[in-house]
Amino acid sequence: MVIAIDGPAASGKGTLAKRLAAHYGLPHLDTGLLYRAVALTLLDAGFPLDDERAAARAAEALIADRLADPRLRERAMGEAASRISAVPAVRAALLAWQQRFAGNAVGAVLDGRDIGTVVCPDARVKLFITAAPEERARRRHRELADRGETATFDVILADIKARDARDASRATAPLKAAADAVVLDTTELDADEAFEAARAVVERAILH
Ligand code: CDP
Repeated sequence: MVIAIDGPAASGKGTLAKRLAAHYGLPHLDTGLLYRAVALTLLDAGFPLDDERAAARAAEALIADRLADPRLRERAMGEAASRISAVPAVRAALLAWQQRFAGNAVGAVLDGRDIGTVVCPDARVKLFITAAPEERARRRHRELADRGETATFDVILADIKARDARDASRATAPLKAAADAVVLDTTELDADEAFEAARAVVERAILH
């Protein structure tokens, strides 16, 4: 069974994907990490983020070991990932990677921006997780503070709004809900309530 989870920055899709994967015994891929790793590889090698050829080469050469680097979770890397993720050659290289992951015998849970629309259009379950920008900024603020990063709420909110706009307006695989996705607004839900709502969607799909 493949479960595709998409949604904007800090919508809670990662937490939810992890919990669903554990519950159903499926491997989980946070696809945002792939884009963050490409951005980090590029920056570490001294290339600017707008060098599209170098970004494409970094995506083609991406190896799984890079996904464990704690720097990938930094705020600046989310921003950098959003910039290189608009490059079609980067997306093409990472598409194969993600489809290999999803194509294993048991299935998988993948979370990102274009899983239900492009990476796994035939996924058994598609969820689109969203929440009000202010609530997402509060969650991201807490998460970054727990890791010792200091950024003000206003800066994070501006970041999130800019990233939503860039991700939704790019020409290749923009952020949008698949026509057959179930949209779950988690503004008023805590992590347990979001998990229960998502689990109900999966159970319905299994019986269908
Ligand atoms: O955790 P957060 O939502 O802040 O970010 P992320 O999921 O790690 O994604 C970082 C950036 O990578 C996003 O802003 C997208 O531009 C890009 N991305 C994408 O284009 N396609 C995906 N499947 C996943 C991430």
